[in-house]
Amino acid sequence: MELSLVIPSFNEKDNVQNLVQQIHQALADTNIDYEIFFVDDSTDETPQRLEKMAALDQRVRYYHRENGKGLGTAVVEGIHQTESEWIIVMDADLQHPPELLPTMVERLKAGIDIVIPSRFVEGGSDGGLVGVRKLISFGARSIGRLLLKRLRPISDCTSGFFGFKRTVVQGVKLQPLGWKILIEILMKANYRTVHEIPYQFKARDAGESKMSIREQWNYLIHLWKLMWQSEEDRRFPLFAMIGFSGVWVNLGLMAGFIYLLGMNHVLASVLASLMAMVNNYIWNDALTWRDAKQKEHKPGWIRMLLFMAISAVSVALTTWIMRGLEMIGIQVLVGQTIGILISTIWSYQANRHLTWGG
Ligand code: GDD
Ligand code: MN
Repeated sequence: MELSLVIPSFNEKDNVQNLVQQIHQALADTNIDYEIFFVDDSTDETPQRLEKMAALDQRVRYYHRENGKGLGTAVVEGIHQTESEWIIVMDADLQHPPELLPTMVERLKAGIDIVIPSRFVEGGSDGGLVGVRKLISFGARSIGRLLLKRLRPISDCTSGFFGFKRTVVQGVKLQPLGWKILIEILMKANYRTVHEIPYQFKARDAGESKMSIREQWNYLIHLWKLMWQSEEDRRFPLFAMIGFSGVWVNLGLMAGFIYLLGMNHVLASVLASLMAMVNNYIWNDALTWRDAKQKEHKPGWIRMLLFMAISAVSVALTTWIMRGLEMIGIQVLVGQTIGILISTIWSYQANRHLTWGG
């Protein structure tokens, strides 16, 4: 078998027959050997309709699950229960145009690893979503692309319509949480080439969307998990968290120096800051950049000195920004906050390139 169309369905009784018919039509002029595999969690008559079709049509198969476990796991189930060379996942409600299938298969045949029909490249459109849903969809995509580097080049990373070579997910443990199985694949699979093809996302044919607040929440948790699982994507948040923890170390030490040791305030402040820097260095070296390959070439004490120099510059940078903003009338604490944000980003980049890179 060359191609399996994996179609998750949940209460789509008025769509599945049309969909199958349109898929056959779209693929009629090609000589692709394909099957249509539904993974169904429906509680309406969808399974009976699938049963009927499967009995008459060799190309149709379905797998019905009682007490459905959601869209993402349905797709994974579909991947596991098929054996074709390529897989295309699409929705059952005709929002994804089957006419696009031949083009997708062409690309896969040409050796492209992942093919994603996109609403957001030149020629595509997002007609199927209206008002608030459009805004939420935009927000969801933006957060995903901000947090996860591998999603950045992909304009429609939250799509439910995509095709890929089976080999890219071979041996990969897919654990989607909620709906966005494509994101799971983009983050974990082994691929080199991704193509996006413009398409028009249409309004639903019949029935209604199952998107919910709960799914949106799941999506955020999913992104969060993927971020912490990714050595690259968790670096900045880790760096920021360690920086934040350093403030408390700094304050604690200073209190100790002054109230326990009776130290001079200026000396206590300088010492506390220096020791907080060392603390931050140690954590960043052990966690944030634990995989830095340059560690072998750059001794620890040089890394630590670089880190402390960068920290000192970043303190100066913060003050400089605060003063600059103060001169144009911005309140000092607000200015200081902006300064801290900017210098955190700056020092992250500087450390990435100098201390643990280069
Ligand atoms: N098996 C199974 N189990 N299928 C499900 C489940 C489930 O729990 N929930 C939904 N589905 C199926 C639906 O039957 C449909 O075929 C497909 O998954 C998408 O569900 P819709 O309810 O139609 O979602 P949507 O149109 O709001 O969202 C779609 O378009 C979005 C574009 O913004 C999905 O494809 C999203 O992933 C996509 O982001
Ligand atoms: Mn839909």
